[in-house]
Amino acid sequence: MLKGKNILLGITGSIAAYKAAFLIRLLVKEGAEVKVILTSAASEFITPVTLSTLSKNPVVSSYTAKDGTGTWNNHVELALWADFMLIAPLSANTLAKMATGLCDNVLLATYLSAKCPVYVAPAMDLDMYKHATTRENLTKLEKHGVGIIPAEDGELASGLTGQGRMAEPENIVAFLKQRFSTSPLAGKKVLITAGPTYEAIDPVRFIGNHSSGKMGFALAEEAAQRGAEVTLITGPVALSGLSSMHRVDVVSAADMHEAVQSHMEQNDVLIMSAAVADYTPVVKAERKMKKQDVGLAIELKPTTDILASVKDRKRPNQVVVGFALETDNEMENAKGKLERKGLDFIVLNSLNNEGAGFGHDTNKITIISKDTKTTSFELKSKQEVAKDIWNEVEQALV
Ligand code: CTP
Repeated sequence: MLKGKNILLGITGSIAAYKAAFLIRLLVKEGAEVKVILTSAASEFITPVTLSTLSKNPVVSSYTAKDGTGTWNNHVELALWADFMLIAPLSANTLAKMATGLCDNVLLATYLSAKCPVYVAPAMDLDMYKHATTRENLTKLEKHGVGIIPAEDGELASGLTGQGRMAEPENIVAFLKQRFSTSPLAGKKVLITAGPTYEAIDPVRFIGNHSSGKMGFALAEEAAQRGAEVTLITGPVALSGLSSMHRVDVVSAADMHEAVQSHMEQNDVLIMSAAVADYTPVVKAERKMKKQDVGLAIELKPTTDILASVKDRKRPNQVVVGFALETDNEMENAKGKLERKGLDFIVLNSLNNEGAGFGHDTNKITIISKDTKTTSFELKSKQEVAKDIWNEVEQALV
């Protein structure tokens, strides 16, 4: 979504200016062209050399180039070059100037010349951020069509804790992607489950399965790429995923059930790609079970079928997708699950296909919709499979 976009990044005087280096790296990684305008206050926090190296473009910090040639940095041309302007971090001082039309540096002159969309990511101490004047200035900017990327909560340079930190670079990129996405997923809230569940036998042992979580994480990352707000509920896995996603870590089927129940209401799409245990021990031993010379039988009871449990609460405009991992009568079993669990789509993968299912980096799927439309795909990387799944699911969202 940001590929090929010309982004004019304004950096103002705030300790968060150091994060602009990470922000540029992320934007460049997305395929964007970045040019930087640095205010003199910002240059106290980060050097033009760092920024020009990362952006691969000269940094503009005054009306004339500082190379002694007297070249004029044409702010009108800069503004015309940009597909959008992003000011991150935005200090209280520059915010106030933008709100009143003050124009005492090249960044403000460029802002006033800009016809492209403008986004700002404020950064200031919590009391400055809360101050009535700041609120008024932000409201004014919003009225003028500027997109505000809200400051985040956390530890501030002053040592205080509260709202005022510039949004993390990953979150700024996610915000921008949402704005520029043409996908029906843009701005939609999606809930994805991934990985296995572990059912405790005693404090050191559990019943689990070989799910790596790779399919669910690939689905979550693709949805974020398309501009969705992603909540990922994951069982125990060794994956890290994007930091812009809201991640909920769970262990057992019961934990996953509870997490899905509490998030389902506010989401537009649920994809259950987790390999949820069907059974859990009736009793979890409080202490480590000691070895004995006789055999051991562990009594199991069924877990709640999470998908089936959301069926009755599902709103008509919510889309629910299940997975079916089968070894026999694949199509028949998958269609049975689609119907029984009241799904909009089921993604069938067969363990009989080499390279498909648990642990692999690839998968081979067939997607069946509730109106029995069936689409089969070749063996692909899980990232590519995630794209195929979202392409199908998106059609239910338009
Ligand atoms: N699922 C679930 N809750 C469970 C078990 C499974 O929500 N307790 C979901 C899975 O996440 C998957 C779908 O149901 O999306 C199908 O899971 P699968 O294990 O293939 O089917 P089961 O219904 O468990 O039936 P079986 O194991 O007999 O094939």
